[in-house]
Amino acid sequence: MASESPFLTRYVLNNGLEMPSIGLGTFRMRQADIIVETFDEALSAGYRMFDTATAYNNEGLIKEALETLLPKHGLERDDIFITTKLAPSDHGNERVRAAYQRSLDLLGLEYVDLYLIHFPGTANIPANDMRNFRMRDMTWRTLTEMYDEGLINSIGVSNFTQRHLDEIISSSHVTPTVNQVEWHPFYHDYDLLKFCKENDIQLQAYCSFGGSSHDNNELLNNPVVTQIAKKHNATSAQVLLVWALQHDIAVIPKTTHPDRLKENITLQFKLTPEEIKALNGLGERNMKYAWDPKAVT
Ligand SMILES: NC(=O)c1ccc[n+]([C@@H]2O[C@H](COP(=O)([O-])OP(=O)(O)OC[C@H]3O[C@@H](n4cnc5c(N)ncnc54)[C@H](OP(=O)(O)O)[C@@H]3O)[C@@H](O)[C@H]2O)c1
Repeated sequence: MASESPFLTRYVLNNGLEMPSIGLGTFRMRQADIIVETFDEALSAGYRMFDTATAYNNEGLIKEALETLLPKHGLERDDIFITTKLAPSDHGNERVRAAYQRSLDLLGLEYVDLYLIHFPGTANIPANDMRNFRMRDMTWRTLTEMYDEGLINSIGVSNFTQRHLDEIISSSHVTPTVNQVEWHPFYHDYDLLKFCKENDIQLQAYCSFGGSSHDNNELLNNPVVTQIAKKHNATSAQVLLVWALQHDIAVIPKTTHPDRLKENITLQFKLTPEEIKALNGLGERNMKYAWDPKAVT
């Protein structure tokens, strides 16, 4: 296991469930051997949370990896925290139940710890179409029923704006435990963070390094980031993760490299208020790498 990191902790969600502050993202991990090797190294390094989604097409491969690796590492199912997500094509009533069951079957699990609505919009419906709102409402109602039935440990959302969250909170008896959103120095929203803190919704950052779909070196190589890293004898990646964690935002960096797996979970320095301010200042760019939910009705 990697040496102690003060940021490797567990956040208590609004339903009492504990979620690790640092997890492993798995977007674009689709090769069986790479998933086994990566999860093996990740478990050795101390990762206990794994983030997947129906859309990543790797739930079945993760099942195979966990079947071998949990016994190898002396771990039980309850020692790890698994998140998966409902695909935008599965919004609705019965579709949601069927989609969840499909994910469970693929993952070889009886429940997941966190089931997220991946995106507020429904596949093949234009962003400004009111059907998005109705489908999302149906989806959340169904998820709350499934949660009440004890089928899921916790339910949450992803890519929800404050408006989308407001609608859910005012129409439902269950507040989402987590909102997983794009969050890095080039793209962050303090109003959303404040709203989530006030409503006891845990923010979880994705694309901490600028994502794996684009040329992400711009963020990792940004001079403000590299200079702060140098001062702390750390890497840019570590600075970006600590910056999120010091805002009490969970992180799920993705890597398949053993050295980076360790690097991303071994965070042993704190940023000064001035350094946080300098990193926050990069948000003026408003540079978004992943899909944008703002226009979704
Ligand atoms: N809810 C959503 O809509 C949504 C959207 C996007 C992502 N996600 C989730 O969030 C996770 C993280 O986001 P992401 O995968 O898009 O991007 P990310 O974590 O920002 O960046 C991953 C990229 O950074 C590289 N990297 C990792 N550690 C590094 C290090 N220490 N130094 C230098 N480069 C490093 C990786 O390359 P190597 O693998 O080659 O190391 C990969 O190319 C995803 O895997 C997924 O689970 C959710």
